[in-house]
Amino acid sequence: MLYFCSTLEEYKNLKSKLKSKKVGLVPTMGNLHEGHMSLVERSLSQNDLTVVSIFVNPTQFARGEDFDTYPRSLEQDLQKIEKKLAKLGDNNKSVIAFAPKNDEEVYPKGFSEHIKAGKLGKILEGELRPEHFDGVVTVVKRLFTMLAPDNAYFGKKDFQQFTLIKLMTEKEGLKLNLEGLQTVRESSGLAMSSRNGYLSKDEKELGLNLYKKLKELEQLLKKEKSIELARDQIKKTLKEDSSFNYLDIRNANDLTELKDLSVPVVILGNYQVNKVRLIDNMEVEVK
Ligand code: PAJ
Repeated sequence: MLYFCSTLEEYKNLKSKLKSKKVGLVPTMGNLHEGHMSLVERSLSQNDLTVVSIFVNPTQFARGEDFDTYPRSLEQDLQKIEKKLAKLGDNNKSVIAFAPKNDEEVYPKGFSEHIKAGKLGKILEGELRPEHFDGVVTVVKRLFTMLAPDNAYFGKKDFQQFTLIKLMTEKEGLKLNLEGLQTVRESSGLAMSSRNGYLSKDEKELGLNLYKKLKELEQLLKKEKSIELARDQIKKTLKEDSSFNYLDIRNANDLTELKDLSVPVVILGNYQVNKVRLIDNMEVEVK
């Protein structure tokens, strides 16, 4: 059964009425696609109540970014969740779609629990969007506090975001389990994203350069097992294609500098297609 609520009070009433044993949270900004729905599906399989939060969080957008034009499609989002529930056909599973009716529901007057993402929030995406991750960890902590889930689900498409949320959860001593799920892609390989809706067919084709480069570097690392060769290739790419805002290889455990190949590796990139910045990454097992 799908329930909808837009205030914290409604949510609390509903939650106590449902008497659920395990609560899974899928935080989103809406405009749900198959990537989001893979998280919903996972939560449904592990919890009797799944909460899908739908909130375009103003504090993670800088001035001049796409906060005002970010796609909002609540009706279709609810239909997608309804469809997923119907497909599952399990009457014991409930979903609450929590779409705060205004910003004050999340940030009441006098809200003072802004937190910082720290040093790792300033590299890669954080270099392009300096305050972005402070806004992300603040809203995610706030959602955890408001909605009190046992489990929360994130996509590894936003690898840096997931890493910073894990660190924040640990640092703040929050008692819940986090799970990161694999990136869902279009058949072309393009990582699904709400922002893909901004792209024409030709622009999507251009965007695939990022995925292709990640694949190429993955192959190189697996074959040559050399960080130096991968770094040379990255340098060459950045020189040849100015659409890359960054391209880097890092330690996948914590995004620190990659020193040797005994740790899991992640290659991360950001690629500019006209006004749209696409992000993607690839975890590599080098054995
Ligand atoms: P949003 O971009 O809506 O993404 C919500 C969740 O869906 C994130 O955990 C994201 O990593 C995941 N996701 C997006 N595209 C995916 C894909 N192709 N495959 C798998 N998972 C995918 O990320 C945010 O919202 C916000 O920053 C949020 C965490 C909700 C805080 O406001």
